[in-house]
Amino acid sequence: MQYQIIENAQIAPNVFLLDVSGDTSMLKAPGQFCQIRLPGFYLRRPISVCDWDERGMTLIYKAVGEGTKALSQMQAGTALDILNGLGNGYSLDACGSRPLLIGGGVGIPPLYGLARALVQKGVTPQAVLGFNTYEEAFLVDEFEDLDIPITVATADGSFGKKGFVTDALPADYDYFFTCGPDPMLRALYKACRPSGQFSLEERMACGFGACMGCFIQTKNGPRRVCKDGPVFRKEELFW
Ligand SMILES: Cc1cc2nc3c(=O)[nH]c(=O)nc-3n(C[C@H](O)[C@H](O)[C@H](O)COP(=O)(O)OP(=O)(O)OC[C@H]3O[C@@H](n4cnc5c(N)ncnc54)[C@H](O)[C@@H]3O)c2cc1C
Ligand code: FES
Repeated sequence: MQYQIIENAQIAPNVFLLDVSGDTSMLKAPGQFCQIRLPGFYLRRPISVCDWDERGMTLIYKAVGEGTKALSQMQAGTALDILNGLGNGYSLDACGSRPLLIGGGVGIPPLYGLARALVQKGVTPQAVLGFNTYEEAFLVDEFEDLDIPITVATADGSFGKKGFVTDALPADYDYFFTCGPDPMLRALYKACRPSGQFSLEERMACGFGACMGCFIQTKNGPRRVCKDGPVFRKEELFW
């Protein structure tokens, strides 16, 4: 499917906000992702959808390797071939009455769309957003504009609480949703008592369930992160 870049702007060191116009009718739940084809690269790059409307969608990505660095050089007006609406996304069906959203770094973007969806549903989530340092923080103002309680944690203490997201968990939540680096997810699996949903990351090839390149073992047997996930319930995971 063809999309067009509206904006591709740096919002933090090596972190870019990519706004594209195009069909978003296949997006059904926050936490779904898309696969972007980049000229000269065989495999598409998976990136979570941060937010969307009928006009287009916003992605936030970190330039870490050759593909995302090439993406960061692309200008407004450029056409992009994107496979969209992939994965299951977060389920809002059983989200408790006081859900907590816990995000780390570029795991935070899909939680922004989720926060908006929860607010629209009449549920007020709290959020804990983790970064390494003040300069690397992004999306904090946007979360604050949703008028929900936010706690920021930075590893060096330069913004918000000093420490990791696990050092900044509130006492009063009855469900949680999370996305972020693998060590953070594993620490939360142990630290969070209520039930919750984890968005996992695996290296992907097809992105839609055909190649078995991204399977993990769960309590329900082998599952493909791209098709059966990327969001899994805490009870399904072995950690
Ligand atoms: C479901 C999902 C959602 C994601 N959402 C985001 C997001 O919203 N923002 C963001 O910044 N990043 C996100 N990532 C990570 C992002 O896909 C990688 O950073 C990106 O593919 C790196 O590509 P590269 O060419 O720059 O790096 P390279 O290291 O050159 O990539 C080489 C190959 O490894 C794959 N790869 C490298 N790192 C990862 C990784 N962490 N996860 C999966 N595949 C990887 C690449 O896709 C490529 O096929 C997501 C990953 C997954 C699986
Ligand atoms: S990437 Fe092909 S099955 Fe998941």
